[in-house]
Amino acid sequence: TTRVLTGITTSGTPHLGNYAGAIRPSILASRQLNVDAFFFMADYHALIKCDDPVRVARSRLEIAATWIAAGLDTDKVTFYRQSDIPEIPELCWMLNCVTGKGLMNRAHAYKAAVDQNTEKGIEPDDGVTMGLFSYPVLMAADILMFNAHKVPVGRDQVQHLEMTRDIAQRFNHLYGADFFTLPEVQLDDEVALLPGLDGRKMSKSYDNTIPLFEGGAKATKAAIMRIVTDSRQPGEPKDAEGSHLYTLYRAFATAEQSQAFKAALEGGMGWGDAKQALVDQIEAELGPMRDKYADLMAHPERIEEILQAGAHKARQVATPFTQRLREAVGLRFVA
Ligand code: TYM
Repeated sequence: TTRVLTGITTSGTPHLGNYAGAIRPSILASRQLNVDAFFFMADYHALIKCDDPVRVARSRLEIAATWIAAGLDTDKVTFYRQSDIPEIPELCWMLNCVTGKGLMNRAHAYKAAVDQNTEKGIEPDDGVTMGLFSYPVLMAADILMFNAHKVPVGRDQVQHLEMTRDIAQRFNHLYGADFFTLPEVQLDDEVALLPGLDGRKMSKSYDNTIPLFEGGAKATKAAIMRIVTDSRQPGEPKDAEGSHLYTLYRAFATAEQSQAFKAALEGGMGWGDAKQALVDQIEAELGPMRDKYADLMAHPERIEEILQAGAHKARQVATPFTQRLREAVGLRFVA
C-alpha cells in the first residue's frame, strides 16, 4: 500500500487554491485501492503566522468541515489535528538536532522575510521567529512520523518536501538504519499554482483569495466578480492564455469545456460573461457540498468526535514509532 499524507495550516478560511491544489487531489488519491491516507489540520504551524486564538480555533473548524464536505471518507482516512499528536513536536526536536542551520537559511518563507526587511532597510531578521525559521522541520516531522510515500501539495510546498528528504536521509545515515521513508511530492501541473484575484498566487498573505464555502455562494461569486482583467471590451478578442481567469476556469472544467471557453474569449466574449461562466462552473462543483459544510459548522461536536477518533488512529502509529526512535537515539522511555 501507498501512504499519502497532507496538511493545511489553520490560520485562515480555506480558499479555492487549497481546494484545487491540495484537498481535491488528496481526496481523489485517498479513494484509490491500496492507498492509506493521512490528512490533518496543521494547527501548530498556524501559530507561526497567527497569534489570534479565536482565528486559529475557528480556522481549525472551517478546514475540518471543508475536508468532510468535499467528500472525505473519515472512516477510511486518518483525519486529525497535528496538535492532538504530541509525538510530532517530539520528533520535530529530534529532527531539529540533525538539521543544519544552513539548510534552513535557504527556506523560501524565511528568505522572503529577510528580503522584505532588507528592502525596507531594517535588520534582516527583524520579526523572524524561530517558528518561522524552522517551519520546514516541523513539516518534516509531520511527514516522517507516518512514513508517507506521497505528499499531494501545491507548488509552493515543493521545496519543503526536498528539505524533508534531506533531513530524513541525514537522520537515517547518523543512526544507521532506514527509519524514515523518503517522501515524494505529488503535483498536478494544471492546478499547482492557482492564481488569485490579482493574478499572483492565491494566498491568505496576499489577501487575494476566493473563499470556498464561508459566506455561501454569494461570497464566492462576489470575489469572482472582482477578478482583475484587462480593459478589452465585449466584442474584442481576448488573450485567453494570458488571463488568470482562464487559468481558474481550467481548474474547474473538462478539457472540452476549457477549449470552448478559450474559443469564446478569443471570439470576443465580454469579461462579465466570462466571470459569470466561471461562477457557474465553480458552483456546479461546490454547490452540492455547501449544505454539508453549513450543517457541520452548526454542529462542531460532530467534527470534534471525528477528530478525536482520527487522533486515536494516528497515535496508534505515532506512539510505537516514537518509542523506536527514542531507543535509536539513546532515550529509551520506560512508562
Ligand atoms: P498551506 O496551508 O499554505 O496550504 C495548504 C495546501 O494548499 C496548497 N495551496 C495552493 N495550491 C495551488 N494554488 C494555490 N494558490 C495554493 N495556495 C495553497 C498548498 O500548496 C498546500 O498544499 N506547510 C503547509 C502545511 C503543512 C503540510 C505539512 C503540507 C504542514 N505540514 C505536511 C503537507 C505535508 C502549508 O502552509 O500549506
